[in-house]
Amino acid sequence: MTLAKITGTGSYLPKKILGNHDLEKMVDTSDEWIMTRTGIRERRIADEKETTSDLGIKAAKKAMEKAHVKAREIDLILVATSTSDMIFPSTAAYIQHGLAAKNAAAFDLSAACTGFIFGLSVAEQYIKTKRYKAILLIGTEIMSRIVDWTDRKTCVLFGDGAGAVIIQGTDSDEGILTTHTYTDGSYADFLFAPGSRTPTSLQKELAVKKLDVIHMKGNETFKVAVNNMGKVAKEALEKCELTVDDIDLVIPHQANKRIIEAINKKLVIPPEKVFINLQKYGNTSAASIPIALDEALCSNRISQGDYVLLVAFGGGLTWGSSIVKW
Ligand code: UT7
Repeated sequence: MTLAKITGTGSYLPKKILGNHDLEKMVDTSDEWIMTRTGIRERRIADEKETTSDLGIKAAKKAMEKAHVKAREIDLILVATSTSDMIFPSTAAYIQHGLAAKNAAAFDLSAACTGFIFGLSVAEQYIKTKRYKAILLIGTEIMSRIVDWTDRKTCVLFGDGAGAVIIQGTDSDEGILTTHTYTDGSYADFLFAPGSRTPTSLQKELAVKKLDVIHMKGNETFKVAVNNMGKVAKEALEKCELTVDDIDLVIPHQANKRIIEAINKKLVIPPEKVFINLQKYGNTSAASIPIALDEALCSNRISQGDYVLLVAFGGGLTWGSSIVKW
C-alpha cells in the first residue's frame, strides 16, 4: 500500500527579533511573567514589506531543494494559514505563482494552529489514493499583523514564520502512519480574529472596536488544549498499536511551555523526547509544527526509522495528531 512520506522540509523566520524586554516598553508586562507563564523569550516579526506568501515561498524553496522536487513537479500546494495575504485570492495562489509551480492546483486551509495537521491529513488522502504524486504543504503566518499590540494577554504570545514539507508516495513502511483531526465550534469564541461577520455598518470602526485583532480566553483555552491534545495523542498511539516508549520524538504545537509540560505528564513522556523551540519564536500558529520539524531534522533529533508524534491545538477550537515513521 502506498504511504504518504515527508521527503523534504524547510523553514523561514523573519530576521527582526522582538524580545520580552522590548515588550516591557510597549505594554504592562515583564520578562519574568512571560518566561514563567509561557516559556517564550523572543519572537520574530516580519518586515513591513513581507507577506505571508513571501515567508511561505522561502520555506517551500528549502523543502523542495531537500526533496529534490522541481516546481513543475508539484501537483498540489496546500497552505495552512490564519493570516492570508488577502481574503481572496488564496495565499496558495500567490505561492504557486511565486514558485512558478504551473502544474499545481493550490488552495488555503483554515484550522488555526492545528492547520498543519489538518493539511497533513488532506495530503495523506490525495497521495494514498494516487491522485497526486507531489504535494507542497506549507504553514505560514504573519500573526503580528492581527495581534492587538495594546493587549498584554495576547501580544506577548505570537510570532511570525513559515515551515514547509514536500509529501510524496512510498511503497516502504516509512511515512505518515495516521492522522486524527477534530473540531468543536461551540468553543469558537475562546479564540478568534473577526472576519466578514463584522457588519458593514461597523466597518469604519474596526480598529476602535478591536474588530480586526485576535481575541482569546487564555485560561479556558489552556484547559481544553491540554485535555484534547492528550486524548488525540493517545488515539494516534492506539491506532498504530504503539506506546509512548516507542515514540522517539514528540513535536507539539508551540503555544506555551506549560501546556507542553502538562501533556508530557498526561502521556508520561520524558521531556528529553519532546521538541521545544517556542522560547525563540513564540506561537507561530500553523507554522509552528513544520518549523519545529525542520529544526529537529537539521539538529539530528530524528533518524531514519524513528517514530515522531505530532500534536496540535488551536482556534475553532480544533485539535489533531499524527504519527510519522521517518
Ligand atoms: O495556539 C493555540 C491556542 N492558544 C493557547 O494555547 C493559549 C492558551 N493559554 C495560555 O497559554 C495561558 O492561559 C496564557 C499564557 C494566555 C495566560 O496565562 P495564565 O497563567 O492563564 O494567566 P491568566 O490569564 O490567568 O492571568 C493571570 C494574571 C492576570 O492578572 P490578575 O487578574 O491575576 O491580576 C492577568 O491580567 O496575569 C495577568 N497577565 C499579565 N501580566 C503581565 C496577563 N497577561 C500578562 C502579561 N504580563 N503579558
